[in-house]
Amino acid sequence: LIVAGNFKTFKTRKGTREYLEELEKLVSDSKSEVVVFPPATAIQDRIEKVEIGTQNLYPTKNGAFTGEIGLEQIEEFGIKTVLLGHSERRDILNESEDLIAQKFRFYSKEKLRIVFCVGENLEIRESGEDEVFKFLQNQLININLDYENFVIAYEPIWAIGTGFTPTLEQIETIAKKLKELTGKDVLYGGSVKPENVADILSQKSVSGVLVGGASLKADQFAKIVKIADEVSK
Ligand code: PGA
Repeated sequence: LIVAGNFKTFKTRKGTREYLEELEKLVSDSKSEVVVFPPATAIQDRIEKVEIGTQNLYPTKNGAFTGEIGLEQIEEFGIKTVLLGHSERRDILNESEDLIAQKFRFYSKEKLRIVFCVGENLEIRESGEDEVFKFLQNQLININLDYENFVIAYEPIWAIGTGFTPTLEQIETIAKKLKELTGKDVLYGGSVKPENVADILSQKSVSGVLVGGASLKADQFAKIVKIADEVSK
């Protein structure tokens, strides 16, 4: 199972270093794959068990792209995993389908592992499961599903940071369909916390979780990792 933590725009370089030192101690013998995505200023070399990924990248090795980082900046830290298509980038930073697809193309050529986020808003969820799946399918239309080194993160927008989650049946239904469509592992994200993670990870088609708020404290995130170990399929 994969347990990934997305810090978003939280934590400094120093805070991330302290967090990682604490987390390393708590999860060193875990059988789960543990990944954290700190902000760009806090990306750093892996200490041991916990992999460091990056929340975003511009599709370039380097160049004149003010405010962005590219391949050269992450290679220095041996980073091999990138989060793409997060709904906050799509909706707040106005990232287009086309730019997301360019990023996917560029970083799949570079053989990075891609955690590709998809997810519907509440209006689509309320129009029913068929509409939800149609929407998610469209978010994958420009993505090369033959690329091997990527996983899907199913993150309903209305579940992110809200404390709401779909029912377990709804999570399983969508995860199963996404898995069938793509042949990839599917993570679930959106208000995952120690209290609900066992049930979510027990769903047959769910291969991991992407955690925002509940990843910010090392002891709480370690709790999630421990529960993942117990569920381990
Ligand atoms: P949350 O965020 O766990 O705080 O809901 C999840 C995410 O945005 O990846």
